[in-house]
Amino acid sequence: MNGKWWHNAVGYIIYPQAFKDSNGDGIGDLNGIIEKLDYLSFLGVNLLWIGPIFDSANPYNGYDSRDFLTLAPRYGDMADLKRLLDEAHARGIRIIMDFPLNHTCKEHPWFQKALKDPTSEEAGYYYIERGKRKGRKLLPPCNWESFSEDSVWTRIGKSEYFYLHVFSNDIPDLNWSNPKLREKMYEALRYYLDMGVDGFRLDALAHLAKDTSWSDSSLPVKENGCAFDTSKYSNRPELYEYLRLLKQEVFSHYDCLIVGEVGGSVTPEGALKMASWHDGYINMVFNFDTVWNNHNYGSIDKKDDEIKTEVAELKKNFMRWYEVCGGKCDMPLYWCNHDHPRVLSQYGNPKYREESAKMLFTTILFLYGNDFIYFGDEIGMSNAEYDSLDDYLVDAGMRPEIERFRKQGYSDEWILHYLNRSSRINSRLPMQWDDSENAGFSDAKPLFRANPNYLRGVNVKDEMKDTDSIFHFYKYAIGIRKDPMINEQVLNCRLRLEDPENEDVFAYIHDGMEKIMVVSNMRDHDVDFTFYYRITDIMLHNYDGLMLSDGKLHLRPYESLLLRIS
Ligand code: NOJ
Repeated sequence: MNGKWWHNAVGYIIYPQAFKDSNGDGIGDLNGIIEKLDYLSFLGVNLLWIGPIFDSANPYNGYDSRDFLTLAPRYGDMADLKRLLDEAHARGIRIIMDFPLNHTCKEHPWFQKALKDPTSEEAGYYYIERGKRKGRKLLPPCNWESFSEDSVWTRIGKSEYFYLHVFSNDIPDLNWSNPKLREKMYEALRYYLDMGVDGFRLDALAHLAKDTSWSDSSLPVKENGCAFDTSKYSNRPELYEYLRLLKQEVFSHYDCLIVGEVGGSVTPEGALKMASWHDGYINMVFNFDTVWNNHNYGSIDKKDDEIKTEVAELKKNFMRWYEVCGGKCDMPLYWCNHDHPRVLSQYGNPKYREESAKMLFTTILFLYGNDFIYFGDEIGMSNAEYDSLDDYLVDAGMRPEIERFRKQGYSDEWILHYLNRSSRINSRLPMQWDDSENAGFSDAKPLFRANPNYLRGVNVKDEMKDTDSIFHFYKYAIGIRKDPMINEQVLNCRLRLEDPENEDVFAYIHDGMEKIMVVSNMRDHDVDFTFYYRITDIMLHNYDGLMLSDGKLHLRPYESLLLRIS
């Protein structure tokens, strides 16, 4: 452990569009975040990850920059960002910006220039390649499938050329093998670090490097003529060289926190190579292994009773990462971000809102690493429960998906139910500040309608009033987690699962003179848990009274404890 400032940080993720609107246009903004800094400071978080705020065309909600050196006017301008940084720093809160460095939107001037002249310097900032002639047909340069389930290549008008996009064709990939492009990106990153930003969450980092031989994948080709083969554009060896250069040219010159979002089947060993204290290039790696352990992902064909948290698998996935990375690099922890349904609906249970929200927080907060709370989890926000598909159709990205399901024969009612259960829109609804119109988020109608449960106590104002609330539990738990002795033990003493195969209970222990133990029942029913330790302190508990006898801890639905044991 090398004493970095984030070693005592509790993170908080803000999806800017949905957090707080200060100017009445229905869109959250930087001044809205400034308004709420005292709230965040009171909660106790000291590190904010702010979703992308660059000027963008916006079909991809900001993950589609039009200019890395200009902010989207809907969020504010550079003066607002500077003020946000100053105000946050004055409260001991650091800020990392989400930086989508793998792609831009089509409207970016570089791409526009590239389209006009595929031999221009800007064309070299993207992957633009000639198609393959097969008889009279012009085929894409290779057969890879994108994450949008079509070819990664889109033809440029009627030309011979195609551009590459591993996501949708709205967001062409940048060519990181080009030193000139890399230099442009370094400049942009330095600009924000010089301004006082404390680091970045690097979006889609796994995909910076591609197999530029553009050879066809040998994996099975689907009906669309493409093979889904992420080995062609995810976590490739060249990626490590780009990271090394990023560190050498930019990150090593600042006291910054760099968190990579590394999907695409990254292994813990690969993540350690990226983030190792010893010779890594960045500081932490977000993986997706622990957010969908309940069969919910892509579950359009499933009924609700097939969705069940696989507790043993979940524990195994956390530990798989800990075993490799623990004590060798920093690790982020999270239950939810803007790409997932709300964790209360995913692994918890809105019917047991208080119990399950508190249980989930206790469970993740004391694992090895830095927790990132997703905004609204601290007041028990849950999935949307919309009653019409129209509420989803306002999102440009949802339309093709809904159309695809309709074509596959699913009824609108079925699709709606599925989206209410699994869509990432669920976590993009307005933050629920109070019980006034639009949950106190904005005077104007927001893009996504707020969850009406803001009228039934699920809002900051009501949560603050009740000293037993989820909010106060979070605040108290964060205080414990930040205690230097506890922090030291969580980060430096060995972590092990208790009864790893248990299908219902998530329990773990940090060794030490006096051990720290978390025991969490992840079910909506009572469970008995074998328990022979001597409890010396109950530091957190989401129920009254302990039911312990004959070596059995009787746990009520979602009951959870943070204990000191010997
Ligand atoms: C991952 C981001 O979290 C997601 O929201 C975005 O759509 C893709 N990267 C593409 O930038």
